[in-house]
Amino acid sequence: MAIVNAREILQKAKKGKYAVGAFNITNIIQLEGVVEAHVEAQAPLIIQTSVSPAKFLGESVLVAVYREIAAAAPIPVCLHLDHCQDVDYCKKCADFGWTNIMIDASREPFEENIRRTKEVADYCHKIGGITVEGELGTVAGVEDQIKVVEDESKLCDPEQALEFIRRSNVDLLAPAIGTAHGVYKTKNPKVDFERLDTIAKLLEANKMDTPLVIHGGTGLPVDTVKRLIELGGSKFNVSTDLKHTWIDATYQYISANRDEYDPGKLDKFAKNAIKEKVREWIDMFGSAGKA
Ligand code: 13P
Repeated sequence: MAIVNAREILQKAKKGKYAVGAFNITNIIQLEGVVEAHVEAQAPLIIQTSVSPAKFLGESVLVAVYREIAAAAPIPVCLHLDHCQDVDYCKKCADFGWTNIMIDASREPFEENIRRTKEVADYCHKIGGITVEGELGTVAGVEDQIKVVEDESKLCDPEQALEFIRRSNVDLLAPAIGTAHGVYKTKNPKVDFERLDTIAKLLEANKMDTPLVIHGGTGLPVDTVKRLIELGGSKFNVSTDLKHTWIDATYQYISANRDEYDPGKLDKFAKNAIKEKVREWIDMFGSAGKA
């Protein structure tokens, strides 16, 4: 089944009122854990890499592993480059074989954001089979090397969202709606549901079927996740939660087995922790059985 871009699986999700989980990984064992959880649940999947892990693992190695694993998996799997601010690196990863590319020019002025996003979208569309995600407004918090403090974050203007999609040819839109990368400081983060609703309705009224992306999944209450999906979020990003799960599981295993030197057992333990965590998200997203 296997190698797909994001747009095709997300349009199906949008119609079916569920979300596809987009999970950031930093190594191959995490990648395997995320894939296995989705295969067991028969759920479609988006694997994400930020720029640093992509460079650290090596683009060609990562894509080779993705292709091999995705080709064998009985579910659709997309490989997404997350929050890349560098147009040339976006193009490089498209050439290597990522199937969804996020050009994040959201901190640039509106016209420059359109220009850069369009440059990447046109490039990827010319290659074929690759879709592109853009961001409008700025999502607060830290993801990879990008840090946006709350005071500087700016929510997405719905009318501008239409213009942005039309002029940039972008395939997926990540509108800033108050969610944030990293750990929320409060139990009930202030999310602008109305803004997401307005954007989704405006798109529909204008016969635009662009899927909407929700960033900052970690720490959102279950009700919030479900409501965001109901209102039109069809790609849901989760990063920090997996990083914490990975490091906590590794620490837990080593603390309990300080005299053991079998890395395979440690890898298995940490991979299982990732699988369990990812399964919780799949259940929240309603994507089980949708592959
Ligand atoms: P979290 O780290 O808050 O889960 O956000 C993930 C994300 O949006 C990646 O783009």
